[in-house]
Amino acid sequence: MSKREKIQIPIEEINQQKEIINRIRQRNDFDIQRTGEKKRAVVVTYGCQQNENDSERLRGMLRDMGYEFTEEKEEADLIIYNTCAVRENAELKVFGNVGALKHLKAKKPHMLIGLCGCMMQQEHVVKQIKKKYKHVDMVFGTHTLYRFPEVLDKAMNEAYTVIDILNTDGYIVEDIPIHREGSTKAWVSIMYGCNNFCSYCIVPYVRGRERSRNPQDIVSEIKQLVSEGYKEITLLGQNVNSYGKDLEKPMDFADLLKTVNEIDGIQRIRFMTSHPKDISDKLIQTMSECKNVCEQLHLPFQAGSNRVLHLMNRKYTKEKYLEIINKVKNAIPDIALTSDVIVGFPGETNEDFEDTLEVVRQVEFDSLFTFIYSPRKGTPAEKMKDVISMEEKQANFQKLLDMQNKISLKKNQQYLGKIVEVLVEGYSKTNAEILTGRTRTGKIVNFPGDDSMIGKLINIKIDNVQTWSLSGQVVKENF
Ligand code: SAH
Ligand code: SF4
Ligand code: F3S
Repeated sequence: MSKREKIQIPIEEINQQKEIINRIRQRNDFDIQRTGEKKRAVVVTYGCQQNENDSERLRGMLRDMGYEFTEEKEEADLIIYNTCAVRENAELKVFGNVGALKHLKAKKPHMLIGLCGCMMQQEHVVKQIKKKYKHVDMVFGTHTLYRFPEVLDKAMNEAYTVIDILNTDGYIVEDIPIHREGSTKAWVSIMYGCNNFCSYCIVPYVRGRERSRNPQDIVSEIKQLVSEGYKEITLLGQNVNSYGKDLEKPMDFADLLKTVNEIDGIQRIRFMTSHPKDISDKLIQTMSECKNVCEQLHLPFQAGSNRVLHLMNRKYTKEKYLEIINKVKNAIPDIALTSDVIVGFPGETNEDFEDTLEVVRQVEFDSLFTFIYSPRKGTPAEKMKDVISMEEKQANFQKLLDMQNKISLKKNQQYLGKIVEVLVEGYSKTNAEILTGRTRTGKIVNFPGDDSMIGKLINIKIDNVQTWSLSGQVVKENF
């Protein structure tokens, strides 16, 4: 058996799970008829887009079992928390919210509670749940998501907590049902796991090793989405630049991007996340040549100091990062750049932090995702020592935000008076008469409009800008 065959879950196993889905559906249908009550499920996502994509698979399986979805926990028969382990506050939120379900469960004993996702891949977390959160009925990890029907079936019949966690390098699973959020843009995972072991990061421990989906499977998923009317596809992976290295017929990410760009009817392609150590000239060239690939790049730099980058095991320098950015700006002049930054990595001095500010000043990102370092159990950085206090870290963090906010506003001001193409997603959450969508560069645009525009690409003339969004009016020539 080849290495690929070993990691690809055989279709027979997926079919077994589908049989269980059908069995649960029959039971649910019977119950619904008998009681006149619907079956309702809540799925809450705490993590990144990959985590959200997993939640969409969970919802797909649940939909096929006859569940409807709600956000009201009080009316749910089933609650699933899909957890994230990347920072401590994400974990604390989950523990707090699971604790709060105890009362609800006491009032509604038939309600089932499940925990899954990245936190569950950590032994100490599962131990704590077994000990302190006995009202939880199911615990399953990232590698066993596809066996959720089996886990649920057991939990429906047993009083004990059903646990299904595998400590493995991970699998590739095709053909799990999916129920997506929205109908204009979709996420498509192209690979799973991460091999980089940045010294602060838990992801490689909870998501396993890098493994790429077969290009044929990716292309057929995207073709299906386009035929259903989706206009924008975001290709997902922890490090998309190393796509394809493990395929039997190796191909790289740039080749995949070209192939996806050729799919008939696709309008917009985005991807995330890219690692600076793996971004190639070929990829930059491909981005600039493919007309459906959006002018947007998320390229986390994490820190500006070379000493800190080395401690982080990032494998590039500040100079190398700036060189890549220059190449990208030259090849794609209207590119929007975004990045992730960690403030207060152990050992980072105030002087090191000045290098981070220097990168932000030089690059002028459109926006930044900024985090204060959070120690993660089992990672090398957990053992490293701080040299500045938390108050200093927080002051640095604030300095970074202030600098970036000014830059974001300045970048947005360049859009004033311009006409941009917006993919309309729906009505704004805060104003029912205002539609919202995004430009190719990923900027949020709000404008007055009507139902007929939802899901379409509409030209908007920008007449007002804020730090986080743009607003404008529909250009008459659209119609
Ligand atoms: N694979 C992606 C994203 C990983 S998680 C990448 O490499 O960019 C998203 C972001 O969370 C990271 O880019 C990093 O900025 C942040 N992050 C990860 N671990 C963290 C930690 N222990 N403390 C604070 N921020 C962290
Ligand atoms: Fe974490 Fe680094 Fe992998 Fe990103 S590349 S998921 S930061 S280990
Ligand atoms: Fe994503 Fe959080 Fe897991 S960032 S990969 S859900 S640890």
